[in-house]
Amino acid sequence: MGSKPHMSVGANGEPISPPGSADGSSIRVDGRCKVSGTAEFPGDVRPPGVCYGALATSAIARGRMVGIDPSVAEASPGVLLVLTHLNVEGEIAHVDHLMAGGWANSSHRPLSSPDIHYAGQIVALVVAETAEQARDAVHLLEITYEPSSHVGRMDDPNAKSERLAALRPGYRDRRSGDAEAGFVRSTVVIEQRYSTPVQHQHPLELPSTTCVWSGDHLTVFEPTRFVGALKHGLAAQLGIVPERVRVVSPFIGGHFGSKMALSQHTALAAVAARRIGRAVQAGVSRADATTFANHRTETSHTVKLGADRRGLLLAMAHSATAATSRFDTFAMEGTDVSTALYACPNVRAEERVARVDRNTPGPMRAPPETTYLFALESAMDELAHELAVDPIELRRLNDTQVDTVAGRPFTTRPLMRCFDEGASAFGWNARSVVPGEARSGEWLIGHGCAAAALPTKIGSASIRVTRSPDGTVLVETAHHEIGNGLYTILALTASDRLGVPVDRVSVHLGDTTLPPSGISGGSSTTATLINALAQACRQLNESRAGEGGSVEIMFGDAATSAKAREDLERGHIGLASSSAEALAWAFGAHFIEVGVHVATAEIRVRRHVGAFAAGRIVNPVLARSQLLGGMIWGQSSALFEETVVDKSSGSYVNRDFGEYLVPTAADVGDMTVIIVPDQDPEVNAEGVKGLGEIGIAGVNAAVANAVFNATGRRIRNLPIRLDALL
Ligand code: MOS
Repeated sequence: MGSKPHMSVGANGEPISPPGSADGSSIRVDGRCKVSGTAEFPGDVRPPGVCYGALATSAIARGRMVGIDPSVAEASPGVLLVLTHLNVEGEIAHVDHLMAGGWANSSHRPLSSPDIHYAGQIVALVVAETAEQARDAVHLLEITYEPSSHVGRMDDPNAKSERLAALRPGYRDRRSGDAEAGFVRSTVVIEQRYSTPVQHQHPLELPSTTCVWSGDHLTVFEPTRFVGALKHGLAAQLGIVPERVRVVSPFIGGHFGSKMALSQHTALAAVAARRIGRAVQAGVSRADATTFANHRTETSHTVKLGADRRGLLLAMAHSATAATSRFDTFAMEGTDVSTALYACPNVRAEERVARVDRNTPGPMRAPPETTYLFALESAMDELAHELAVDPIELRRLNDTQVDTVAGRPFTTRPLMRCFDEGASAFGWNARSVVPGEARSGEWLIGHGCAAAALPTKIGSASIRVTRSPDGTVLVETAHHEIGNGLYTILALTASDRLGVPVDRVSVHLGDTTLPPSGISGGSSTTATLINALAQACRQLNESRAGEGGSVEIMFGDAATSAKAREDLERGHIGLASSSAEALAWAFGAHFIEVGVHVATAEIRVRRHVGAFAAGRIVNPVLARSQLLGGMIWGQSSALFEETVVDKSSGSYVNRDFGEYLVPTAADVGDMTVIIVPDQDPEVNAEGVKGLGEIGIAGVNAAVANAVFNATGRRIRNLPIRLDALL
């Protein structure tokens, strides 16, 4: 069927010459096939005889369907099948959420009953000869609803919040000392509320699935960042053994937290393909992707900081609430980071979740850090202003080599080096300290900074490296190219460690027939896979396989624990903190200059300097690109992005790029990325830390702090739009 998931480096006999770099660090091995259109993304696959599915979604947030009449749709031109709960009920088994030991990004069971739990819930799949016929017939379904009252948003007075500690076995809020006594002893206490909105990842490539049965074997072409979970979850839903399911996903056009595991639409396409006896491809519209994929949920925070006259923190309290669905508890747990970033003897954290009648949220780039550090790093700036100390000096005073709540040391702690290098490149000392004083023509000028932090996570992986007698090398693992450059770093590392030219290395990813690996998430991919590959190459070299040979190894917890090995083989999530004894974190510091127009209050980011320390940088070009993308997205989180939830319908209002604002190149100003050296022999053998998500963390606070410096107005609810300043 023309599927060519195997991507070869230097295809067509054309060696890839590393432009402008002797060590090859600036090549991108999948660049040529991507820009020439020959890279086959899962949605590009067209199996013989394929027919097309379109999904119908609920117009109400809660209640039930009292009637659904598919007859007109069924009689519409080209229509082959309409699936509703009436003819599917019971055929798709329940699968738990990925974080609750299952495989799904939502434990809602598709087309299992007439009950409606959220707006955008799938209520039917229409399959037709063409995608247009299927989409057209969706509008011919006659559905009658009986709505019941719903809670659409966390700010609804009926939204019930619960302590996470009461919901999740084994979870405990972080506490140390006596926070109340600490506040009483403090010279200055600030206490404020901050909030962040719903956001969607909106990767360019939309979700889709293509299901092909061959006898009782199912092949699924679907963009996913966890082929193993999709395979096992789908097998469980369909009641077949996992060996009969193969998932193929060699390229993904971005996920940023979505495309997590088993989605709502996949089993429906599989069921339809089985009934019709043909391949079925189901596409998802940009609007529907807002409820089929997970999203960044809204959060609210109360942060209280108490300090002595110099600014030494004596007490800190951070309580945070995040919205989740009725049926899944997706919690952020960001106080792990916010209460460990600075030294503080008395700490009280509380994590809560609030139930709303919406789809289950999920991760979106730096899920807890982006929202929790907005609150903490805004509060630190408020404290600095109150004490009239420099915000950088306030952080230096409270810098620490250990997490003072748990007493665990950091493997390395380059936070202040990030501040110092960033400050010097930015010219921080030249800033005007008094808010509202600096002006350039009709623009008020403001400067702000904030810290970035990201715990390094590492997963289990198996990987196979084969050297053929002809000198070519094949690297195979069921991990994923999510756009971050995994093909490139694996090819370059194998080339380096085995001493073969990079154009003799092929890398094969994104297929459950390959040695199993984990989820592409939590910035764990590079740390996990580079360590796994280095170890496999070492073994291959030691085996003296000069003439040829193959090594397959198990890396991470799976190498030593039977449970972790089973999790890896069965597609269960298994990201661990890098070390049990110490905290291995990447750090950063952001510096922002904004201009705020005196008459219109238009807000412009004029300059952004980000300095980051994240262990050994495996590939400087890819790293810079990741950091730049994160920084821009951080500006976006501060000034642009918000999915508006309509209170009365419980639905997302702005579901396309016309109304969901993201910055263009003209919006982001001058960008500088600085990489601060961070040698960390303790984090893992290769000294690699998570980097993919550090770029976004803390940016929104730095922007808000700059807006305060420009205007004297402290904005605590994101995004900051000009109406907040009028
Ligand atoms: Mo994350 S947004 O799960 O990589």
